[in-house]
Amino acid sequence: MANVRICMIGAGRVGKLHSGTLRRHVPGGELVALVDPFQKVLDETGDQFEIDRRFSSLEQALEAVDFDAVVITTPTPTHRDLAVLAAEQGKHVFLEKPMALTLAECDDIMSATARHGVILQMGFMRRFDPDFAAAWERIQAGEIGEVMIIKSLTHGPGLPPPWATDLKTSNGNLAEVNSHDLDTARWLSASTPLRMYVEVANFKGAERGVTSDHYYDNMFATVKFESGAMASISGVCPCDYGYDSRVEIVGKKGIMQIGELKGESIVVGIDRDQGLVTPIFRRWPDRFRWGYIRELEHFVDCVHAERRPIVTGEDGRWAVAMVLAGTRSFLEERPVYLQEVITSNG
Ligand SMILES: NC(=O)c1ccc[n+]([C@@H]2O[C@H](COP(=O)([O-])OP(=O)(O)OC[C@H]3O[C@@H](n4cnc5c(N)ncnc54)[C@H](O)[C@@H]3O)[C@@H](O)[C@H]2O)c1
Repeated sequence: MANVRICMIGAGRVGKLHSGTLRRHVPGGELVALVDPFQKVLDETGDQFEIDRRFSSLEQALEAVDFDAVVITTPTPTHRDLAVLAAEQGKHVFLEKPMALTLAECDDIMSATARHGVILQMGFMRRFDPDFAAAWERIQAGEIGEVMIIKSLTHGPGLPPPWATDLKTSNGNLAEVNSHDLDTARWLSASTPLRMYVEVANFKGAERGVTSDHYYDNMFATVKFESGAMASISGVCPCDYGYDSRVEIVGKKGIMQIGELKGESIVVGIDRDQGLVTPIFRRWPDRFRWGYIRELEHFVDCVHAERRPIVTGEDGRWAVAMVLAGTRSFLEERPVYLQEVITSNG
């Protein structure tokens, strides 16, 4: 079977992560080009992962290199144009979360990929994490009964890049950090979100020099689903102490927990005053190592088999709708029905 030839768009944090994953762990996915307008990063990532064909725009890469698919790892405001252009050129699209800034942009991406018959997979890697995937299967099999309550948290260690601390270019931490919780709560509850109420707070922004309007580093959301299930989702970023992602699901028959604070099953004892020391996950690539590998394996498999991925544009669009409802909720200090943003965000 021929390799799936991939053009990586974006050479920043996630561009590096996915380039390394493709190089080391996904032999069927061949990295043939790299695009980034920022020359220093383009060269750094190109050198690190031995990608010789380097371009400052997708247009240039399309002119010069033959490839089958793109992996888009650029800031959110660029997602729509890049994904639509790639689809129009018949390239399959792996797109990082959040899908886009608005629902209209999501619709453009979905219709372009559908019209040109190419695959669209969203970068919700938690769905491929062995623990999350096992939990979903066991819930589906009825082990804990009907889902009643989900408590999900994501705490990230440091500030994201500057574009991601500005609501106008990122939709804030609800999108940047908690998109994953919004997606998994919808997935694990197997229900449609109905209403959201969100509170936010800013504890560390000033001391870290973040001055953008409505910036928040703490977020607490309550989500009501059509099934009657409820979710609480919290986000802290920067939390400084490490990367922390945990979920608790209460069903009619039992309870399930995913993840723990401990990063590795090592305990070290050196000093009786300090007690036992055990590592914590340092960064998201450590916690979700397998999720990042399996999601790209899945993408390559889907391209080979011309199969619909398990995480689609629909899922990306729902997460964006939840981000928009949540943002409106804290700005207007009231619960917001999903229907309000779905009908008005055109
Ligand atoms: N799945 C995850 O766990 C995860 C984690 C972090 C970030 N993300 C997402 O990945 C995306 C990128 O985030 P990041 O942290 O890597 O950002 P980043 O700022 O580190 O990197 C983005 C790169 O894209 C480049 N770029 C900008 N416009 C471009 C264009 N038109 N064409 C090509 N390159 C362009 C920038 O120069 C930069 O090098 C965002 O959507 C973010 O939300 C996902």
